[in-house]
Amino acid sequence: MQIVRDIETLRQKLADLRAGGGTIALVPTMGALHAGHIALVAEGKSRAGHVAASIFVNPKQFGAGEDLSSYPRREASDIRMLEEAGCDLLWAPDADVMYPDGFATNVAVAGVTEDLDGAARPGHFDGVATVVAKLFNQIRPDFALFGEKDYQQLVVVRRMVRDLDLPIHIVGVPTQRDADGVALSSRNSYLTDEERLAARALPRALGEAASAIQSGAPVEEALAGARDKLAKAGFDPIDYVALRDAETLAPVARLERPARLLAAAKLGRTRLIDNLPIEPR
Ligand code: PAF
Repeated sequence: MQIVRDIETLRQKLADLRAGGGTIALVPTMGALHAGHIALVAEGKSRAGHVAASIFVNPKQFGAGEDLSSYPRREASDIRMLEEAGCDLLWAPDADVMYPDGFATNVAVAGVTEDLDGAARPGHFDGVATVVAKLFNQIRPDFALFGEKDYQQLVVVRRMVRDLDLPIHIVGVPTQRDADGVALSSRNSYLTDEERLAARALPRALGEAASAIQSGAPVEEALAGARDKLAKAGFDPIDYVALRDAETLAPVARLERPARLLAAAKLGRTRLIDNLPIEPR
């Protein structure tokens, strides 16, 4: 796997890959890789001739008081995992390469960013859209793979790609979970043993609410039940438990189209997010 840290070498290596023929799939990451990221690489390999991953802990998507300085950084083991997964190229720029002195551009996607994590983390999705737009221009991939765990992020990226006519096929990959149902996340490493046990309540509460809604229970009642279970398990604060249209993220009061049940809540100092698909019967 080629490891590249400057734009000029990146362009050269990508031209070499393209010269040999074949398409390119991009797996954008902030590192601290786990099996969820490796599933993205595997999906990329099944769709394209070459897979490029990026590792960049993007300062623009962290708010004041968030975990930018403590975000896990494990580049050596990330590189080993990507090599084992058959990744062809790693793009790992420093912050001054991504955002040189005088950088002044912001990419903002309206609508789908205004609620849920967009409300709980002001400016977060501008940071995500700005860096993802840059990564797309730097790599010019044919495919880009995103985990469904960050479901709102996936919707935001799809919206941006449609709005800007970017010739990139966005692929959402189902959330990878531990055996006890907890979604894999780089931030799970912050959890104490006790919190890691309590974290099981999140997929369980979502699963129970999803079954209830699919069986015809009133949506608000099911959401309130999930909030209650999370509070009892020690989640505090609960930023949201919400049922949204799977494509537009508009609130859903009655299940008539594919929807997504989404939640975000804090356990100790760790903010966890998760979501499940719900299809009308
Ligand atoms: O999902 C992530 O890891 C990040 O938000 C992304 C897409 C790599 C942008 O920094």
